[in-house]
Amino acid sequence: MSSNGEPTPFEVQDLIPIIDYSLLTSGSANDHAKAVQDIGKACEDWGCFMLVNHGVPETLIQEMMDMSAAFFNMTNDEKLEFEAHGVLDPIRCSAGLNLVNPNKDTLWREYLRLIVHPDFNCPYKPPGFSELASEYVKRTRAVAMELVKGVSESLGFEALYMNRELNLDAGFQLLAINYYPSHVEFDVSRGLMPHTDHGLLTLLCENGVPGLEVIRGGKWVGMGGVPNAFSVLNADHLEIFSNGKYKSKLHRTVVTDKRKRITLVNPNGPSLDTIVGPSSRIVDGEKRLPRYHPMKFSEYLECQTKLITAGKNALDEIRIPI
Ligand code: OGA
Ligand code: NI
Repeated sequence: MSSNGEPTPFEVQDLIPIIDYSLLTSGSANDHAKAVQDIGKACEDWGCFMLVNHGVPETLIQEMMDMSAAFFNMTNDEKLEFEAHGVLDPIRCSAGLNLVNPNKDTLWREYLRLIVHPDFNCPYKPPGFSELASEYVKRTRAVAMELVKGVSESLGFEALYMNRELNLDAGFQLLAINYYPSHVEFDVSRGLMPHTDHGLLTLLCENGVPGLEVIRGGKWVGMGGVPNAFSVLNADHLEIFSNGKYKSKLHRTVVTDKRKRITLVNPNGPSLDTIVGPSSRIVDGEKRLPRYHPMKFSEYLECQTKLITAGKNALDEIRIPI
């Protein structure tokens, strides 16, 4: 702050960008062009942005938060039915294992991870969960697909270029629900280690309890806290496809708030059988060297899971040194 309390120019510039979705989809041609430009800038400069006026009803989000709490409040035995196995299992719940022996020294949370596109999967309980989640992911998927069109245009391509190249009509979408129980309930360090996500863009919605942080200039910066907004993060396959122009965003979660935190997280990716490498238009057209080895998306997911366990990042493995 300057002496008169006004933000200094650096502070003004260094706020996480905010994108108004309504300008992208229903504004004038000028509004649309400006939104595309802002998305490009946010993806290149920050690797993340807050999305406002996305049109997903607040009541639907609230119902999803309540339903998620109801799911995690089921008994361990009930949740164990949905226990995690392989990375491509349609329903994966972390619950049982963690709850039996929460380790006080490691960052900790419960999660439920569902493959929701091209096929929709959801636990059959609590009653009504599946119908609600189905509606929620339909809405968030539509938002994500519009954003990808904007990203495609921001790279200088036609809106549907990325959709075609990456077979997004059969795209792999997840709904990961993270549940960080209240500090009062469990005396553990709650959070998520630094990582990047697979896919193109991750949309994240939180229940008003802060915790998400992104890296910026070597420092961790809090993200979120804008009412009814989604946090949007560049993910690994956007970095690969754009040949390094739109970097995947490193993020982590540190929950110090006493309240329980719930996040609804949607990674949106190409179809599982798409081989993703740098866009040929970027590499050939701009005469640049490809900076990533192409890899089938499903193989990347398997590889990423193994590497995370070993504390490594999958992107580092396919990056071609210059
Ligand atoms: C994730 C993630 C952040 C959060 O699930 O990949 O980064 O705050 N979640 O829950
Ligand atoms: Ni993440």
